Amino acid sequence: MRTPTASGLDDVVAAETVLSDVDGEAGQLVIRGHTVEQLVATSTFEDIVGLMWNGAMPGASEREALRASLARARQDAFRMLPSLGGGLDAPDAMSALRTSVAHLWATGDPREDRIRLTAAIPVFGAAWHRAKAGQPAVKPDATRTHAADYLQMLSGSAPEAGQIAGLDAYLCCVVDHGMNASTFVARAVASTGSDMVSAIVAAIGALKGPLHGGAPGPVLDMLDAIGDPDRARGWLEAELAAGRRIMGMGHRIYRVRDPRAAALERAAANLEHGSTATDRLIMARVVEREAERLLMERHPGRNLRANVEFYTAVLLEAVGVPRTLFSATFAASRVVGWCAHVDEQRQVGRLIRPKSRYVGPM
Ligand code: COA
Repeated sequence: MRTPTASGLDDVVAAETVLSDVDGEAGQLVIRGHTVEQLVATSTFEDIVGLMWNGAMPGASEREALRASLARARQDAFRMLPSLGGGLDAPDAMSALRTSVAHLWATGDPREDRIRLTAAIPVFGAAWHRAKAGQPAVKPDATRTHAADYLQMLSGSAPEAGQIAGLDAYLCCVVDHGMNASTFVARAVASTGSDMVSAIVAAIGALKGPLHGGAPGPVLDMLDAIGDPDRARGWLEAELAAGRRIMGMGHRIYRVRDPRAAALERAAANLEHGSTATDRLIMARVVEREAERLLMERHPGRNLRANVEFYTAVLLEAVGVPRTLFSATFAASRVVGWCAHVDEQRQVGRLIRPKSRYVGPM
């Protein structure tokens, strides 16, 4: 009997991992033993880096050592800017990242490669953004945390504590998510024995797609286009009638609301000092409710609910990240997960090599 084709590889288990577990029925994401809600509420980016790469939450001195290593590596990445050729001329940030990160050489030391890759992404992303605006790149500040320095490299001025906390919450939220498309790509490259830089460049290419990491920019475009909460239903109906997908809704794995949507919605609300939500947040909540209702009518039983991208858009806008950099900011966090998966895949030491079924002429 012929094996059925697993188009989309739904339900195919391609690896065992200690890094994260996604329970799509319960709506639970566990990252190295911690729920995503816990991590978002209590951790910084440096904590998550230590957790992902070393298996446990770092203590104060390890956290400071990680912060300092990342800060030094951001300065090294900054010094590379003049040698990136046309990388930063790319029309979109993800193309710029893919091309610029490809300029790094792998050292062969996984600890060194992970730090250099993680540091390079915000430096290259911020430099791309400023070049597009006709502004000079801002030198990294070695005294800052990763999140604070990213915001400073974007705007050129010192970020507020609330902005830093909001960005840290985001970076903790999206660091890893099971065998998503970009992680699978990174692991497939690693399984060939190729180097870490090549695996991360390939993963950036996968994350760029709108069905994976490219949705939050379009979510804001949608909120802008709707303009007024009263217009939400009509606008969404017209989109669906035209055969277009509602960005930020639906997920391959979750059959309930993505737990990261709730964590990011809460982080966005906290930015307002726990009191009133911004107009954007109010609008997003109305649009989410209407989209959920319409998708339920069209696909009863499928339960298409808000995914991570929906409130990513609201939170990142509120902390001052421009929408053209939303996917690149996703990459600034997910690179930590990709690197951990590359290391894990290397331990497996087995080539990932599925089959295809030939249906052309003989
Ligand atoms: N808007 C409208 N329709 C949607 C939808 C959306 N956001 N998401 C899924 N659907 C529809 C599909 O077109 C499909 O319809 P069909 O059966 O008539 O062909 C049905 O719902 C079931 O789709 P499903 O199998 O659940 O989708 P998937 O697993 O292939 O895709 C996504 C998952 C994430 C790619 C999909 O939900 C999507 O495109 N969402 C919008 C983009 C987005 O937010 N991406 C970020 C993901 S984190």
